[in-house]
Amino acid sequence: MNNDAIKKVYGRAAGVYDVLFGPIADSGRKRVVSNVNQLPGGRVLEVGVGTGISLTHYDPKHTITGIDLSPEMLDRAKYRVAKHGVKDQNLSHIESLAIMDAEAMTYDDSLFDIVVAMYVMSVVPSPEKVIHEIQRVCKPGGKIFIVNHFSQPDGMMSKIERLLEPYSDSLGWSPHFPIEACLGTDSLEVKEQRRVPPLGFFTMLICDNKLKASNAGLNGASPLPRTSMELGSMEQEASASPNEAPLSDDSPAK
Ligand SMILES: C[S@@+](CC[C@H](N)C(=O)[O-])C[C@H]1O[C@@H](n2cnc3c(N)ncnc32)[C@H](O)[C@@H]1O
Repeated sequence: MNNDAIKKVYGRAAGVYDVLFGPIADSGRKRVVSNVNQLPGGRVLEVGVGTGISLTHYDPKHTITGIDLSPEMLDRAKYRVAKHGVKDQNLSHIESLAIMDAEAMTYDDSLFDIVVAMYVMSVVPSPEKVIHEIQRVCKPGGKIFIVNHFSQPDGMMSKIERLLEPYSDSLGWSPHFPIEACLGTDSLEVKEQRRVPPLGFFTMLICDNKLKASNAGLNGASPLPRTSMELGSMEQEASASPNEAPLSDDSPAK
């Protein structure tokens, strides 16, 4: 998929995303967030944060930044944070939600302790570039969590995935997606690889970032793009959302 196709399909899907893709992928999200919550408090980046379906489940000891390519998906995330934050939770640890291309992040090197990519790697045009960027912005020795569907090398499922592949622009993700697309570099060390429900269709990877710090802070990138100003606008959006979608309110993953 290219970025225009991604923006189009997720722009259209934003309003129904939580209903269509909420429950089926929830197990993987909860496992990832639960693992993140067991780590010492740190700076977490969620790449392809979408409608922010997991945001309210992070332990407040972490500070959370989310990025996404789709303004419509990110608007949902901002609305969710504003609504929960105002209503029943202190979500001041959700520091930033920004429109950004995961293939070319504007963050400094080694800014985050933990980077999370849930159901995004098979959506982006170049998973290799995204992995490179994730490793760059993650501290050396930091943790990287990925959950995704990875295609099988053979068998009936593999055949179906290959047949569906030409329709990836309409589906919003690439059905034929081998795990090697994420693991082409020695500097990403897989510590745990686990199938997750439903039916082991998705796989969670917990990795250590073994990339050595190089040129940290010298790439002309900026630190976090915004703080309190955007949070202010999130609160306004909470009271004035033009097309409020039902929020899938799953139980906390802590
Ligand atoms: C299948 S959704 C996953 C959303 C969320 N992580 C979840 O658990 O439901 C994929 C998301 O990745 C976003 N995305 C796709 N390509 C991207 C890119 N290059 N940079 C940032 N976000 C991207 C899409 O806009 C979409 O919101």
